[in-house]
Amino acid sequence: MLQQVNGHSSGSGAQGRASLKGDLREFLGGEVPLHQLDDLTKVNPVTLETVLRCLQARYAEDIFYTNAGCTLVALNPFKPIPQLYTPELMREYHAAPQPQKLKPHIFTVGEQTYRNVKSLIEPINQSIVVSGESGAGKTWTSRCLMKFYAVVAASPTSCENHKITERIEQRILNSNPVMEAFGNACTLRNNNSSRFGKFIQLQLNRAQQMTGAAVQTYLLEKTRVACQASSERNFHIFYQICKGATRDERLQWHLPEGAAFSWLPNPESNLEEDCFEVTREAMLHLGIDTSTQNNIFKTVEQSPGALVLCVMV
Ligand SMILES: Nc1ncnc2c1ncn2[C@@H]1O[C@H](COP(=O)(O)OP(=O)(O)OP(=O)(O)O)[C@@H](O)[C@H]1O
Ligand SMILES: [Mg+2]
Repeated sequence: MLQQVNGHSSGSGAQGRASLKGDLREFLGGEVPLHQLDDLTKVNPVTLETVLRCLQARYAEDIFYTNAGCTLVALNPFKPIPQLYTPELMREYHAAPQPQKLKPHIFTVGEQTYRNVKSLIEPINQSIVVSGESGAGKTWTSRCLMKFYAVVAASPTSCENHKITERIEQRILNSNPVMEAFGNACTLRNNNSSRFGKFIQLQLNRAQQMTGAAVQTYLLEKTRVACQASSERNFHIFYQICKGATRDERLQWHLPEGAAFSWLPNPESNLEEDCFEVTREAMLHLGIDTSTQNNIFKTVEQSPGALVLCVMV
């Protein structure tokens, strides 16, 4: 039976396999080093091995983004790469005549989407889908995109406008630590695993400036409040309160120093996500005043079941 293998037709199964092996050898030993292939559509033959070898070669060279046609493949570097996310680099992608000609980056996706909104006479909503397994970097990537838009979609003319836009952008970015405190937890795969899905809508005006955002959350893993797998933890907010509450707050919330709770396993692991101050600060910027915050934390601490209510705030 005739078979089509990556564009090559082969007479028989054995013949096809031999020719594929030959192509594979030729590709892997080819002149172009694998890490220089910045688009997986250039990989030939397209097999699991060639694609993974190409991504592996790029990863070894600290190249974490690769195009696959109009899709971007992002690998988690598992280490901070600050120079890859600077505001200067955001502006470079934003100002580039053809951002797709620059190195593959999440900013190319952000910029192209932004230009799509801009170039259409009747604005049409654009969507970016961020998907991957737990720990792949979805939350990180969405944060990156929000930061990118906070930088590029903010160029108002008047001083008053500038203040308003700054406030809106800051509030949009501040929604992340709050959502993550109440909806993320440490799991075996990810110290900051999102235990809910979210649909983030960024709203632009006709001048393509950011004017607001709406976040819809769904499928919160409510059962985690009462039951966690061994070596995993409850939602970050509980640990933040236990570790970060002041003396007065402890008295008010009946929370003795160093108390152990069976529904708060593994409190000894100190994560950067345990910082109560970051959550409080972000809530304040979102317009949740200290007294409302106190009521929320009191409810959370005294009745873990109320967590779900607080997530809706
Ligand atoms: N581009 C990146 N640069 C540096 N570190 C990263 C990057 N992407 C991810 N990480 C690291 O990997 C961790 C896990 O990423 P993230 O929380 O985004 O995964 P996720 O896909 O949202 O997982 P989950 O489905 O469990 O929520 C982050 O806390 C961060 O430390
Ligand atoms: Mg996540």
